[in-house]
Order: sequence, then structure tokens, then C-alpha cells
Amino acid sequence: MKTLELAVIPGDGIGKEVVPEALRVLDAIADIHGGLKFNYTHYPWSSEYYIEHGTMMPENGLELIKGSDAIFLGAVGDPNLVPDHISLGELLLRIRREFEQVINVRPAKQLRGMVSPLSNPKNFDILIVRENSEGEYSSSGGRVHNGIDEIVVQNAVFTKRGVSRVMEYGFEIAGKRNGHLTSATKSNGIAHSMPFWDEVFKEMAASYPAIKTRSEHIDALSAFFVTRPETLDVVVASNLFGDILSDLGAAIMGSIGIAPAANINLNGKYPSMFEPVHGSAPDIYGKGIANPIGQIWTAKMMLDHLGEPEMGEILLEAIERTLESGVKTGDIGGSSTTQEVTDAIIAAMKEQTG
Ligand code: NAD
Ligand code: IPM
Ligand code: MN
Repeated sequence: MKTLELAVIPGDGIGKEVVPEALRVLDAIADIHGGLKFNYTHYPWSSEYYIEHGTMMPENGLELIKGSDAIFLGAVGDPNLVPDHISLGELLLRIRREFEQVINVRPAKQLRGMVSPLSNPKNFDILIVRENSEGEYSSSGGRVHNGIDEIVVQNAVFTKRGVSRVMEYGFEIAGKRNGHLTSATKSNGIAHSMPFWDEVFKEMAASYPAIKTRSEHIDALSAFFVTRPETLDVVVASNLFGDILSDLGAAIMGSIGIAPAANINLNGKYPSMFEPVHGSAPDIYGKGIANPIGQIWTAKMMLDHLGEPEMGEILLEAIERTLESGVKTGDIGGSSTTQEVTDAIIAAMKEQTG
């Protein structure tokens, strides 16, 4: 029996609704597999936890989850209870940073049964490879309170190591897909893009002659996501550009409620973390109508990462069959509940595997 230890952090808002649903799906996967078992350890770290304890996680929090095979997270953030820069900074961003989850992989592709808001979508299949540890999210900077002359500085920090690492990941994964890599840059206006980001990209392209490369300014690229997404394959982007592109990618798929993500640790020293692209959606929390597909597709990415790609395939197929059958939540035009969608996905998996 292969036993996988998962650290489960539902977090805030709809994270608390969609994570338990995704765990039901994982249990069904274990049943179907027969030789696989998931051990869940639940951590209630959240904004409510902060109100009670004054911190987002206990002092030894990272130690507690460090030995797990993966971290499965819902969403963090309840701005009515705790300011976002504290809740996100001390939990989600802290885990990404301290566990050296330097790459964030976010697919945006057309699923069967999904209706894209694009008027004439051709079949698109994009993989956003987002730098996840530095860039515009650095903690370098400061604030000088001086009345009308107040100054706030937020430095963007780009290291050769960090930029090369994310680009290398992009080139390698493009080689396993359609062989195209697009770099998101802003070399016409921002110093870190030109010459640095573009230079590293060009240099590395020389050692990947089989990969077709393209460099696009982030503003134009955002428009291409809408006007011709089918021309894109892998897109490598800085931390902030990748953040914004991934919500855009989610939007052209049909809803942010279905978009998955994987925060990858490359050196094997720490676990990787799996959490959907969306946040805690306070506007719909508590109604039972959150789309669970983002969290469930994220579970598929976790299965792939943990060496179970066949199970991952079965799961994605079940998601598509469920969408095709019309069992959908309100964000994608249906009227089913979170649980009904999960039930349908589990039933589809059972049907597929007889
Ligand atoms: P959001 O993703 O939570 O919500 C944006 C919109 O999408 C809302 O209208 C929401 O109802 C909808 N939506 C999101 N997920 C959905 C789902 N699964 N099903 C149906 N509809 C869904 O983004 P926001 O409003 O900017 O942020 C809300 C809170 O979440 C903030 O505290 C923010 O900082 C936090 N946040 C956390 C993460 C994370 O933990 N990874 C990511 C993004 C935002
Ligand atoms: C995401 C989120 C986070 C990010 C926020 C909540 C800090 O938007 O995971 O995409 O910017 O990385
Ligand atoms: Mn985001």
C-alpha cells in the first residue's frame, strides 16, 4: 500500500467548503486505485485562527507540515477579520517562500462542457509558469511617513538564479508539450525586463534550439489571451505578471472557480503546495454554491506530482464528463450545489473505471 501524507489547510471562506469536497474525491480515487491511501492531517490555520491566537499558524507550524508529501490548501483571506497583507503574508506567501516553492504552474485550457466568454474560442491550451519567490513580491522596500511627501518603495528583486530557474522550467516543460515558449516581458518600460529578463531568456533559448520562442510585452500578451489564446503554449512570467495572467487564463476558460495551481519545490527539501487560483470568495461563502472544480482539478495536479498521473487522467476526464452533463454551479451557468458537482464527479469516475 502506498500511503501519502497530506497536510490539509482549508483556510478561509469557500476554502472551507471546497477542500472537504476535494478530499471526498481523493478518497474515491484511493478506492478505485486499491493500492493507494491518503492520510490527512488537518490544520485550522486561517483568519479565525489569527483572531484566537494572534498568529496565522503556531510558532512551529512549518515544522509540523514540513515532512508531509504535499500540502493541500484551499484559500486564505477574510478582510473583515484580518488585513490581507497579514493573513496572506503570514500563511500562504510564507509557505511559498520558506518551502522554496519557486515555481507556480497554472494551466488555462478549454475543458469539454465549459463555455468560454470568448465569442469564437479556438481550442486553446496554455500553461502559465509563474516565478513564485521573488520579483515584484519581494519584501524589500519601505515607507517614509512625511505628510504630503510620504514615500512608499516596493522593490522588485530579480536574481539570475531565480529568473534562470523559472525559464529553465518553462523550456523543459515546453519540450514535453507543443515546443513553444512565450516570455512575458515589459522591456519597453521596466528596467528589470530590459535587459535582464530578456537577456536571460535569449541566452537560454540558445541552448534549447528545438523550442520556438516568442517574447511579448505583458500588455500586448494580455490582449492575445483574449484575441488568440490558441497561439500560446507555455508562458513564462514574473511573479506579478503570472498572477495577473492566471486570472485572465481562468476567465477565458469560463470561470476562476475552475482554475488549478501547483506551487512546486524543486530541490526536494520541502513539500510542494497545491491550491486553486481563486481566493476565499467572501461574497458567496456559506451558500453551498462555490465551484469545487478549481480545488478538484488542483487535486489532479497533486496526483500527477505524487506519481499517480493515471489517476489524475481519470479525474480530469470525470470533471469534463460532469461539465458536459450540465451539472454545474452558478458561476458557469448551472444551478447545482458544490456537493452535487462533487457527487457527479465521483459517480463519473466510478462509471469510467467500472
Ligand atoms: P476571489 O478569487 O476570492 O473572488 C473573485 C470572484 O470570483 C468573486 O466574485 C468570487 O465569488 C468568484 N469566485 C472565486 N472562486 C470561486 C469559486 N470556486 N466558485 C464560484 N465563484 C468563485 O478573489 P478576491 O475577491 O480578490 O479575494 C477574496 C479574498 O481571497 C481576499 O482576502 C484575497 O486576498 C484572497 N485571495 C486568496 C488567494 C489564495 O489563498 N490563494 C487567492 C486570491 C485571493
Ligand atoms: C494567487 C493570489 C495570491 C498571489 C495573493 C492572495 C497573495 O492572488 O495565488 O494568485 O498574489 O500570489
Ligand atoms: Mn492571484
